[in-house]
Amino acid sequence: MNQQYQQKAYWRESAKLPDYTCLEESRATDVVVVGGGITGITAAYLLSQKGVRVTLVEAGELLSGTTGHTTAKITAQHGAIYDELIQHFGIEGARSFYDHNDHALEWIRQTVSQKKWDCNFEEQDAWIYSGTESSMQQLENEQKAYQKLDIPFRTASKLPFDIPCKGALVMPNQAQFHPVKYLAAMAEEIIAMGGRIHEHTKAADLQEDEDEIQIIMESGHALTCQHVIIASHFPFYDGLGLYFAKMKAERSYLLAGKWSAPDPGGMYLSIDNTVRSIRFFSYDGSRGIIVGGERHTTGQGVTTEHHVEALREFAHAQIGPVDFSYHWSAQDYTTLDKLPYIGAVSNRHPRVLVATGYRKWGMTQGTMAAHLLSERILGISTSSADLFDPSRFHADPALKKVISINADVAKHLVKGKIEEPPIKLEELPAGEGSHVKWNGQNIGAYRDDDGMVHAVDLTCTHLGCSVNWNKAEKSWDCPCHGSRFTVDGEVLNGPADKPLQVIHTVKEIAE
Ligand SMILES: Cc1cc2nc3c(=O)[nH]c(=O)nc-3n(C[C@H](O)[C@H](O)[C@H](O)COP(=O)(O)OP(=O)(O)OC[C@H]3O[C@@H](n4cnc5c(N)ncnc54)[C@H](O)[C@@H]3O)c2cc1C
Ligand code: FES
Repeated sequence: MNQQYQQKAYWRESAKLPDYTCLEESRATDVVVVGGGITGITAAYLLSQKGVRVTLVEAGELLSGTTGHTTAKITAQHGAIYDELIQHFGIEGARSFYDHNDHALEWIRQTVSQKKWDCNFEEQDAWIYSGTESSMQQLENEQKAYQKLDIPFRTASKLPFDIPCKGALVMPNQAQFHPVKYLAAMAEEIIAMGGRIHEHTKAADLQEDEDEIQIIMESGHALTCQHVIIASHFPFYDGLGLYFAKMKAERSYLLAGKWSAPDPGGMYLSIDNTVRSIRFFSYDGSRGIIVGGERHTTGQGVTTEHHVEALREFAHAQIGPVDFSYHWSAQDYTTLDKLPYIGAVSNRHPRVLVATGYRKWGMTQGTMAAHLLSERILGISTSSADLFDPSRFHADPALKKVISINADVAKHLVKGKIEEPPIKLEELPAGEGSHVKWNGQNIGAYRDDDGMVHAVDLTCTHLGCSVNWNKAEKSWDCPCHGSRFTVDGEVLNGPADKPLQVIHTVKEIAE
C-alpha cells in the first residue's frame, strides 16, 4: 500500500507514556474499570480520590483507543444539537445535557490549572457554521435553541479564512488540549493514590452473583469486585442490553500538520452535509492545524485514499497550503436518540455500569460519564440519571432509527458476501488486502510485505455480515455494527468477541 496513506496519529507519537504491567494474578478490589480511554481513566481517578480501591484494565496500551485518535475539542457545542434535544427531551432535558457538558469542561479546566499538568490546554471559542444556504435554517433554529436554554453565544457572518460561510454561531470560552498528555498525567496520579493499572489485560467475561462480580480476563486471571465500570467504548459485556442494535459506529478522518500563517484561533465545525472540522494546536514549538471530516458508517464507504485526499484538497483550496505529516482515522458510536448511554448496563445488572455513545463528543461526555458513574458507586444520587439511562426508550424518534439502523444491517446480511467484487489472489499486491476468489470461495486475504498471505473467512463472528477491507488501518471492518478485526482475524472492536475464522491453508495459498 502507498506509504502516504498509512496511519500516523499525532497525539500518541508526541507524548510519552509509561508501560504498565499486565495482570498476573487473580485478586479482589472494590471497583474494576475496563478500558483506558478518557472515560475509564477519569472514573478511576475520581474514585481513587475518594479512597476507593480501583483496578483499571486495558486490552492494549493506555489511550490506544479513540481517545488517542480524537480532535480533542473540549466543548458543550456538539454540532447543531440543542434544537433537536429540545424537541425530544424538552427544555429541561436539553438544559441538563448542556449543564453536564459545561461542568465537565469546567472540571477539566480547574483540574489542569490546580495540578499544573502540562497538556497544552488552551481556551478557545467553538464555532458551528453554515457553508450553504440549505443549512442556514438549521443554524437559525440552533440559535433560537441557545436563547431558550440561556446558552451564551454570539453570531458571525464569516470565518477568519476563505471558507464559504453563510453564518456562524459561536459558543465562547470553550477549550482544547493534548488528550494523551492530560490523561497520562491523570494515570500517574491514580498510581500515586494507590490505584492499579494493567495494560495488555483484556476483559473477556463477567460473572455476577449476589455478593460479588468477577471480571475474567482473556489470560484466565480474574478480578473480584463490588462494582464494574465498562468503559471499553463498545461495551465488552452486553448484559442483554442489546447495544449492537441501538448504536451506530461511524469512522472519521483527521489530518495534522504545521501551520505557518498567523493562527486565527477558534475551533470550527461545519453543519453542512459535508462536515468539516478545523482547529489549531501547539505543534513542535510552533502552531499546527488539524482538519477532519469524511465520516461514514464503519465498514461501508469508499477507500481511505479518497477520504484523505478529499480532506487534503479541502484544506489546500480553502485554508491554505499545509504539509500534513500525520493522518489517522477512528470511530465513535451514536445512540438512537443522540444522548449517551450512562448507567447500569441493563436493568438486571445494577452494579455493572457502562458509558458509551458519545457521538464524537467524548472529551466532555466521557468526563461527565466518569462523574455520574463514580457518584453512583459512592451512593450520591443525581436527578439526571434517567436522562442517560441505557434502558430508556423514547419512541420519537428512536423507533424510526431502530428500524433504519436494522434495515441497513439486514441489507448487508442479505447481500452476504458480494459487497466488493473479489479479485484473483495473484492480483493482490504486498501490503494490501481484498476479497479474493480462492477454490471457488470468497475469502478475505492480506498479503504482507514478505509475500505471506493472511487469509480469513469473511463472515463476521457477531451476527454473520460480511466484513470489508479497511486500507488505512489494515483491518477487516463489519458494515453492520462496526466490529473490526486484524489481518489475522483478532477482534479490534466489538460487538464481536470471537476472532474471524482463519483459513488454515495460508502457506498453501501463498504458494
Ligand atoms: C475522528 C474523531 C474525532 C473526535 N473529536 C472529538 C472532539 O474534538 N471532541 C470530543 O469531545 N470528542 C471527540 N471525539 C470523540 C471522542 O474521542 C470519543 O468519544 C472518546 O475518546 C471515547 O472515549 P472512551 O474512553 O469511551 O473510549 P476509548 O478511548 O476508545 O477507550 C476504550 C478503551 O477500552 C479498551 N478496551 C476495549 N475492549 C476492552 C476489553 N475487553 N478489556 C479491556 N480493555 C478494553 C480499548 O483498547 C480502549 O483503549 C472524536 C472521535 C473521533 C472518532
Ligand atoms: S458487527 Fe454485527 S454482524 Fe458484524
